[in-house]
Amino acid sequence: MHRLVNKRILLGVTGGIAAYKAADLVRRLQDVGAQVRVVMTQGACEFITPLTMQALSGHPVHTTLLDPTAEAAMGHIELARWADLVLIAPASANFMARLAHGHGNDLLATLCLATGAPIAIAPAMNQQMWADTSTQKNLLILQEKGIKIFGPGSGSQACGEVGAGRMLEPLEILQQAAEVFDYQLLTGKHVVITAGPTREAIDPVRYITNKSSGKMGFALAEAAAEAGARVTLIAGPVNLPTPSRVDRVDVTRATEMYDACMKAVEEGCDVFVATAAVSDYRPTVTADHKIKKSTEEIHLTLVKNPDIVASVAEHAKRPFTVGFAAETRDVVAYAQGKLVNKKLDMIATNDVSGSNVGFNSDNNALTVIWPGGHKVLPLASKAQIAKQLIELIAIRYKD
Ligand SMILES: Cc1cc2nc3c(=O)[nH]c(=O)nc-3n(C[C@H](O)[C@H](O)[C@H](O)COP(=O)(O)O)c2cc1C
Repeated sequence: MHRLVNKRILLGVTGGIAAYKAADLVRRLQDVGAQVRVVMTQGACEFITPLTMQALSGHPVHTTLLDPTAEAAMGHIELARWADLVLIAPASANFMARLAHGHGNDLLATLCLATGAPIAIAPAMNQQMWADTSTQKNLLILQEKGIKIFGPGSGSQACGEVGAGRMLEPLEILQQAAEVFDYQLLTGKHVVITAGPTREAIDPVRYITNKSSGKMGFALAEAAAEAGARVTLIAGPVNLPTPSRVDRVDVTRATEMYDACMKAVEEGCDVFVATAAVSDYRPTVTADHKIKKSTEEIHLTLVKNPDIVASVAEHAKRPFTVGFAAETRDVVAYAQGKLVNKKLDMIATNDVSGSNVGFNSDNNALTVIWPGGHKVLPLASKAQIAKQLIELIAIRYKD
């Protein structure tokens, strides 16, 4: 079931008596970490209300194709692109016919034409309808088109007959949906990543910060999610959009970032990557009001902030812990020391003395060090570097 974590399932519901079971299916999919959006045919709306499906999925239910307001919100092409899997449960005999023959006469049928995602159907109908030669011919066409067929099961039916045509139970559908997806490098793992700078307030309008843009951490979050992980991104103040499939926690001060990280580790995570440039010090006192210009000199006293990555590494529920070291000289030697002193599993280090890598740049180059080995990741975009680093982490984590 881990394979469904973060997967985007577009659940199509068609007009059959088993439509009520789609409500349970939504819950089951969400329970295993999938994101679910529901599309219903007009027929399905006669059996179960869109309101029920909306309440369960937590998102608006899509029912009509030729509706300008719906198109302006999340249009059919956008929905078709959004999906990792289009799952139609129950699939009526009528819908199977439409799907087999490429009809685009309602939202769900059009979505199926427009999507590049795999399509799976869980047929549900009276045993005679299932055995009918038209339905069986349509089934062959659907199989030839590569559409996955889940079930149907057989047994006693709502109409009082006995035979093949019952929709599989939601748990069985869930199992088969999971098998559509391959295991990925970080399938089923929870990865926590910190990113960006922190801001340490001097007074209500002034603060100490640094040049970190958060780009490296955000790229890593995206790469980890693409590798199948559940990702929590703990971000300092940055101006970046949240990568898709990533849960973001926004913080400002180092102490807030520390609290958010400790909470994530307490709750249990598998990998922790500290890319944030956390302020080492904060003003001992934050003035309640704006400090006025008066004397020639003012003195600011600073106090040390907690060391987040070291605290994570010595936690009883310690995840695989990866640190970052941005240095301007003796880069590798300093990182080696940090790896040992902070008891990290891996450290990624970069030279931020130039402007073509590191802070704020779109590119980076890293030397990744772990006990007994290292690898150089030469200059590339932060997205490419992130992918390579996630691969290294996944390999080392398994060792
Ligand atoms: C009470 C009732 C139950 C039905 N149950 C089913 C069913 O289980 N499977 C099916 O294929 N059609 C069933 N039908 C027929 C479909 O609702 C009908 O073919 C409809 O046009 C399907 O529309 P859709 O495929 O666009 O959702 C049922 C009809 C009624 C009146």
